Amino acid sequence: MKICRHFNYCGGCNLQDTSYREQLELKTKLIKERADKNGVDIKRRFKKILSSPVKYNYRNKMEFTFYAEEDGGLCLGLHGNKQNRRVIELKECLIAGPEVINILKAALMFARDNNLKGYHRYRRKGYLRYLIIRKSVSKKELMVILVTTSQGRFKKEEYIKKLLSLSESKNEGYKITGIYHIINDSAADAVNFEKEKLLYGKEFIEEKVGRITYRIYNQSFFQTNSRCLKVLYESAKKLLKPSKKDKVLDLFCGAGGIGLYIAKSVSEVTGIEINSQAIKKAHENMRINSIKNMNFINADVRLSLKDNKEEFRGKFNKVIIDPPRAGISRKVFERLIELNIPKVLYISCNPESLFDNIRLFIKAGYKLKVVQPVDMFPHTMHVETIVLMESG
Ligand SMILES: C[S@@+](CC[C@H](N)C(=O)[O-])C[C@H]1O[C@@H](n2cnc3c(N)ncnc32)[C@H](O)[C@@H]1O
Repeated sequence: MKICRHFNYCGGCNLQDTSYREQLELKTKLIKERADKNGVDIKRRFKKILSSPVKYNYRNKMEFTFYAEEDGGLCLGLHGNKQNRRVIELKECLIAGPEVINILKAALMFARDNNLKGYHRYRRKGYLRYLIIRKSVSKKELMVILVTTSQGRFKKEEYIKKLLSLSESKNEGYKITGIYHIINDSAADAVNFEKEKLLYGKEFIEEKVGRITYRIYNQSFFQTNSRCLKVLYESAKKLLKPSKKDKVLDLFCGAGGIGLYIAKSVSEVTGIEINSQAIKKAHENMRINSIKNMNFINADVRLSLKDNKEEFRGKFNKVIIDPPRAGISRKVFERLIELNIPKVLYISCNPESLFDNIRLFIKAGYKLKVVQPVDMFPHTMHVETIVLMESG
C-alpha cells in the first residue's frame, strides 16, 4: 500500500490507507445500502465489483488551482480536505502520475520566476486561475491548459519552452502535444472557456479504447480512468448483447463514448446530447473510426424525446442511459416509458440517483437483471455502476 505525503490534508483521495480489497468492499456496501434505501432488491442480481487494472497514476485529467497566499506568495495544487480548505501545493500525486506533477512544478516555477499573481476568488483580483492537464495513456500524449483572467499577461514563448524542456525520458515517455491558454473572467469558481488560444501543437489528444480511437479536446467529457474504461465498456457491451438487428438509442451520448464502442456490432445507434461541441466531436470520432451507422441529435434529452415521440415509438429495441450525476428527471423517465424499449442499460457514477431512478423503472414493470459495479476511481469512494433491466 502506498501513501502519498499529502494524505490527511489533500481532498483528492481519502482511501489510500485502506487496502484495495477493503476499498472494493466499502463500495459494494455503499451500492447495496443505496439500493436498499430506495427499496430496490439487488441480492440475486448483484455481480462482484470489477477492479481497475491500474490502481495508481490512473487519472487522465487533473484540474489544479492557483492560490494567492496572503503574503503575496503563489501556490498550485488541489483543494484540501474538509478540515483544511486551502489549496495544497502538490509535490506528488499517486493517482495523477509523475509526468503530470512534473508539468505542475514547471508551470509553478515559471509563474514564480515571472512574478505572476494568483487569482483571489473573493476579491476577484489576480491573474492565474487553473492548470488543467489531460493525458492519453495509449499514445502517451499530454495537453496542458492554463486558465487565467484577463488581468495580466505572460511570456508565451518562454512558458512553452519551459514546458517542452521536460524531457520525455524524465516524463515517463509522455510528450506534450498541445498547450492552450484560456481566458476566464467569470466569478464562478469553475473553469469557463470564455476565450481560448492554442499556443502550441495540436488541438486534441487521442486515446484508444479497444479498437476505437477517441479524439479528446480541451473541453471534451471523457471518463477519467482510460485503462479501466475498456473494462466498463466491455462489461456494458457484454450485458447489452449487441446484435446486427439492434437499433440502439444512446441518451446523453457525449462525444460518442459508449455508442461508438458498440456501433459496429449493431444495426444503428442514435445518440442524443445537449452540448453542440460534443456532437461535432462525435461526428469526427465516427469518421476517424470509419463508423457509418450512427446519427446524433443535438438537443436536451427531455425535449428530444417529446419532439421525436412518434418517430421513436417502436423504433428502438435497446436504450443506453449514461446521464450526469443527477440522473434522469421524472419527465425523461415518463417519456422513455412511453417508448416501451425492451432493454435498458443504465450507466451511472452516482449510486444515489441511480437507484432512485431504477426504483421508477421497476415500478413501471421493468425487471432488474444485473447490477455490475466497476471501480473506475481507486482510493476514492466514487464508483461506476452498470444496471441492466428488461421489460415484461
Ligand atoms: C456522463 S456523460 C456521458 C458521456 C457518454 N455517454 C460517454 O460514454 O462518454 C453525460 C453527458 O450528458 C450530457 N447532458 C447533460 N444534460 C443533458 C441533457 N439535458 N440532455 C442531453 N445531454 C445532456 C453532458 O453534456 C454529457 O456529455
